[in-house]
Amino acid sequence: MKQNSLNLIDPLINSNYESMREITDEEYKKFISEHQFVVIENTKVPLIQNHIITQFEPENFKLETTTVWSFPDRGDWATHKGDYRANWSPYIPRNLILRYTDESDLVLDQMVGSGTTLIECKLLNRRGIGVDINLDAIMITRNRLDFNYKYNPAIKTYVGDARNLDLIETESVDLIATHPPYASIIKFTNNRIKGDLSCVRNIDDFIQEMHKVAKESYRVLKPGKHCCILIGDTRKRKHFVPITARVLEVFLRIGFILREDIIKLQWKMKSTREKWRSSKYDFLLLAHEHLYVFRKPEKNERLTPYKNSKIWKL
Ligand SMILES: C[S@@+](CC[C@H](N)C(=O)[O-])C[C@H]1O[C@@H](n2cnc3c(N)ncnc32)[C@H](O)[C@@H]1O
Repeated sequence: MKQNSLNLIDPLINSNYESMREITDEEYKKFISEHQFVVIENTKVPLIQNHIITQFEPENFKLETTTVWSFPDRGDWATHKGDYRANWSPYIPRNLILRYTDESDLVLDQMVGSGTTLIECKLLNRRGIGVDINLDAIMITRNRLDFNYKYNPAIKTYVGDARNLDLIETESVDLIATHPPYASIIKFTNNRIKGDLSCVRNIDDFIQEMHKVAKESYRVLKPGKHCCILIGDTRKRKHFVPITARVLEVFLRIGFILREDIIKLQWKMKSTREKWRSSKYDFLLLAHEHLYVFRKPEKNERLTPYKNSKIWKL
């Protein structure tokens, strides 16, 4: 019989609530002196000693103005590379940072992966915090932040769990911009690391863990500020699994207000996201993700009757 308790089926996921640990300059320098690359999901990602950067900004950048975003060239300015599984296009955090923060504001990406969000923080002079469950991801992030630029904002990196941001003060963050795994569609650590949400196979379990991520996001964010999450859907056993709709509901239940639902078009669809081949089964190929922009209400903000509706309290 299938067991549904997280404790029973997934000790790997449920057990890691250890404290965040900051990765110091010394630890990074030692690591890079001993490693030329790290391996993320069977792919070698090189660590570079001296980055040669020819372009620090995207050419002809324009802020997005509609709810459909599409970046076919994905962007490779500064140290952005696109070689980390499922990393997001730097155009996404650039748009979010420019639209929702001012210089010196504090930006958090608690599933920072290869550091795309923090590279944009450095280029746009925002302070940053990056967290990832995987030390190797943090080392890639540190390596990609290891370049000289006219700005040098305070950027801190931690190994830690997005469900327990214990070293981040309550109501201290001005923007959250993050890109969680979509349940187990793409695995990042091949079950090696406790707490890796990309190893959660059961969608209900994944949603339960995302509830904890939402709760911590709500705690650390200042009132009135924004929390942006990029998430996608999948198909399993010939049906559509609406992960995005369920994640949306979780964030609304926590108390966030939905400000934007942006459709992000996808250009490279890995077969891992489409196990059921569209032509064979007459499905449409999934070619979009949702970028939800939530806002934490101000203290004593008068919410609309819709937001106060009992439906969220069920
Ligand atoms: C989609 S990737 C993020 C990619 C990132 N936006 C980039 O551009 O490189 C998701 C990341 O979440 C991390 N992760 C998985 N479970 C986590 C958890 N419980 N807490 C923090 N990070 C986690 C994975 O290690 C992976 O690096």
